[in-house]
Amino acid sequence: MQPPLVQLANVHLAFGANQVLQGIDVEVRRGQAVSIIGPSGSGKSTILRCITGLLRPQTGSITVGSTRVDQLKTEAELIALRKRVGFVFQQYNLFPHLTVLENLVIAPTRVVGRDRATAEREARALLDKVRLGHKEKAYPGELSGGQQQRVAIARALAMQPELILFDEVTSALDPETVGEVLTVIRDLVEGGMTCVLVTHEMRFAKEVSDAVYFTEAGRIVEHGPAQQIFGDPQSERTRAFLQRTLGDGARTRPAALPVLPPRDTLVFDRLRFAL
Ligand SMILES: Nc1ncnc2c1ncn2[C@@H]1O[C@H](COP(=O)(O)OP(=O)(O)O)[C@@H](O)[C@H]1O
Ligand SMILES: [Mg+2]
Repeated sequence: MQPPLVQLANVHLAFGANQVLQGIDVEVRRGQAVSIIGPSGSGKSTILRCITGLLRPQTGSITVGSTRVDQLKTEAELIALRKRVGFVFQQYNLFPHLTVLENLVIAPTRVVGRDRATAEREARALLDKVRLGHKEKAYPGELSGGQQQRVAIARALAMQPELILFDEVTSALDPETVGEVLTVIRDLVEGGMTCVLVTHEMRFAKEVSDAVYFTEAGRIVEHGPAQQIFGDPQSERTRAFLQRTLGDGARTRPAALPVLPPRDTLVFDRLRFAL
């Protein structure tokens, strides 16, 4: 069997006295969709930031392909990693002064030196893929939240990443645009893109995931095939969490849009820094 594309082994990470990850083991194989679910503050986003090298654990190992992410030293090595790992988060962070097409073209041309004609052709194909071919000349401010998030997904794809991490990408959207974003992600998963999804969309996670990890207080309480985690959870804690989030038949949404901490913009800021 092929080695996993992403592997976290016994990862421990603390912010000061706050033990945020306390021995995390995660494996993602090429072509898999893996969801991470769990209560707020349980360490889900921290896991994704470790995979991109934005955060470094105190102990444990993180590999992406043959790269030991936890041992990267230079900024150049980290930027090289981030070209391989797409990251889409709640806040889409499109460049407001650039058209939709330019938002997709800028990184491939400036960061990886793709020629402009090729980058534009690829960008148009990606916009078609996220069903926004007709919006290439629009500016982000002219689009709905769901449309902007689909542009952000296309922008991540434009770097031709080996995998994409999605961190609660529908949490800030109006309910009527959530579905169109989930449809795009489902298409990607079905097309064989390796995806790691942090999501509160439990039904979606159940439907698209090959494997599901349930986190609580910095630990993986339970992981397994989606059917098992949702259908027959082994841990009482998983059961209680699922009951809370699925119980009333309502999609769980945060009561208010959380204020975005600056660290969430870091990935693209660093790319921007590299432009
Ligand atoms: N940059 C940071 N500095 C200090 N504490 C942080 C930082 N990032 C996350 N934390 C803390 O780590 C814990 C887990 O956060 P996070 O991974 O964002 O959880 P989740 O994504 O599951 O809601 C929380 O207690 C949070 O306050
Ligand atoms: Mg989070």
